Amino acid sequence: MAGKVFFSVSMSLDGFVAPESHAVAVRAMRSADDPDVERWMAQWMELQQWVFPTRFFRENLKLGEGGEEGLDNDIARETFERTGASVMGKRMFDLGELAWPEEAPFHTPVFVVTHTERDPWERPGGTTFHFVNDGIEHAVKRAREAAGDRDVRIAGGGATILEHLNAGLVDEFSITLSPVFFGAGTRLFEGVDASRIALEPVRSEPSPRVTHLTYAVHPR
Ligand SMILES: NC(=O)c1ccc[n+]([C@@H]2O[C@H](COP(=O)([O-])OP(=O)(O)OC[C@H]3O[C@@H](n4cnc5c(N)ncnc54)[C@H](OP(=O)(O)O)[C@@H]3O)[C@@H](O)[C@H]2O)c1
Repeated sequence: MAGKVFFSVSMSLDGFVAPESHAVAVRAMRSADDPDVERWMAQWMELQQWVFPTRFFRENLKLGEGGEEGLDNDIARETFERTGASVMGKRMFDLGELAWPEEAPFHTPVFVVTHTERDPWERPGGTTFHFVNDGIEHAVKRAREAAGDRDVRIAGGGATILEHLNAGLVDEFSITLSPVFFGAGTRLFEGVDASRIALEPVRSEPSPRVTHLTYAVHPR
């Protein structure tokens, strides 16, 4: 049986999944040394602070032995293990191309929705990025085929997730709510088609650092 289509993101308490300015983010990944970049990186680190100490994160990025066990670690690992393929927006890919290690942390096929034509980019460790130029439905179809019985993750960023949600392509999503305000940036649900989406709470679990929320998505 085919798996679910889901997304799982970290969100600031005021609803943002990325700090202000994509241009600054690109500079941040290139290690530019300026105050805007420092602010962007500080906000990003606060948003994602729950995952860095986990055993799973350290293992997956080959950062060394050890790491924290517990709910945050379990959720990070479950999210990875259920994912048989991912769909990704081009801006997230552009940042990742600058930031990921040579062995990109997906270890599955990744379908990048984009207007840019490019040959597949195979990385060591099982990640191959495929560039899909004919829309999100086609990307999800290819990801489902590649994922087999496992689930398809809409990896991000905000624009691409919203596009899939509004198109009725998402079955379930998880938000890791971080105790930080951004004030500006990429707001995840800006432009959501509230008239056609109903949510059913599935799971709500606090850890010492964040709150993990999961919802099933139904047509309204
Ligand atoms: N908080 C989290 O957990 C989390 C997770 C993932 C990502 N992020 C953040 O999200 C940010 C990126 O998100 P974003 O909203 O700016 O951009 P995005 O969703 O990553 O990418 C949007 C771009 O993807 C391409 N695209 C999307 N749909 C398309 C379609 N149907 N056909 C063709 N091309 C399509 C377009 O690029 P082209 O026209 O150039 O091809 C579009 O400009 C990053 O800062 C990243 O760090 C956060």
